[in-house]
Amino acid sequence: MRRGAEHFFALPELSHIPPERRAQVLRDIEETGTYTHTAEELLIGARLAWRNHARCVGRMHWKSLKLLDFRDRTSADSIAEACWEHVRTSTNAGKIEAVISVFPPRAPDGGAIRISNPHLLRYAGYRQPDGSVVGDPATADLTDHVQRLGWRGAGTPYDFLPLVVTTPDDGVKWYDVPAGTALEVPIRHPDLPWFEELGLKWYANPALSEMALELGGLTYTCAPFTGWYLNTEIGARNFSDEDRYNKLPIVAEKMGLDTSNDRTMWKDRALVELTYAVLHSFNAAGVRMYDHHTAARHFVQYVEREERQGRTVPTDWSWVNPPLSSSTTPAFHRTFDPPDFDVRPNFVRQQAADACPHAMRSGAADI
Ligand code: ARG
Repeated sequence: MRRGAEHFFALPELSHIPPERRAQVLRDIEETGTYTHTAEELLIGARLAWRNHARCVGRMHWKSLKLLDFRDRTSADSIAEACWEHVRTSTNAGKIEAVISVFPPRAPDGGAIRISNPHLLRYAGYRQPDGSVVGDPATADLTDHVQRLGWRGAGTPYDFLPLVVTTPDDGVKWYDVPAGTALEVPIRHPDLPWFEELGLKWYANPALSEMALELGGLTYTCAPFTGWYLNTEIGARNFSDEDRYNKLPIVAEKMGLDTSNDRTMWKDRALVELTYAVLHSFNAAGVRMYDHHTAARHFVQYVEREERQGRTVPTDWSWVNPPLSSSTTPAFHRTFDPPDFDVRPNFVRQQAADACPHAMRSGAADI
């Protein structure tokens, strides 16, 4: 704890913090085992955590992060309510804003607030007797879990899971997404009229809720944050991975492609049209979304600017490159400073919430 705090307070960005504040923090730690960030420290720290996160291609925008300070919330009910406020504020009627909501950090006695859902909004995946899944297979374990807790979904491929909140006082509780909270986009293709008959849709707001914010020696175990989507995350992963919605075969078939062997490149051709349809649909719905070309260009511009200032940008090359057409973007053609997962502040994976040992099962590529 103390080492973390000292490290944080030594950051050049915080050099304006008066020596009295540093002294007070160290005194508080000595006396109570912890200390409390000011709202300003929390905001700057959360922005730096974003800037430091080697896997994010959107870091050019780190200074735009807004903070919703929910550190006064301790009951599960009030936390769930705040999470819906997070969704509404960051969705911003489609003009998605980068927002982080911060709840009380892990207490010195280890007590922690946790959300079991990987995102505040995420579709359920219902296991069928034949082993197939209706909905998103990525959440099949969590869906089993919430059903054991008594939740019943409608059983469609796009049912929002309830939010599963664990607090030291209330234990585990779940909350359905309130009507009118989640903005969703139906997927259509500008040139292929049959596309909308596939009935695909996706939510506008990726609000990551299972990573911890590590800042100044404190761990904020519940700190959901939103950025805007990239077309490829939905089109070239969520809809097309074989262990997700697996839509390439149906798209290819409707396109009239020969799916009998790989060498017709039907997967590649379907992947492009699907990802294009996602981007087109978000655009048409007025929902902010990055395309992979612009995101990569912005990221490389950002890295070059930082380099000119003599700063490093630790980066995970395999994560900042898109899952399709990487070589058509500038991030593919250069190397970066190696990722540094130890640098703090940062967003880190954490042990699954106790109440839901399945919550963290998803692999790194799901984030
Ligand atoms: N890849 C995740 C998903 O498809 C979202 C990760 C965060 N992405 C973002 N653009 N902030 O749902």
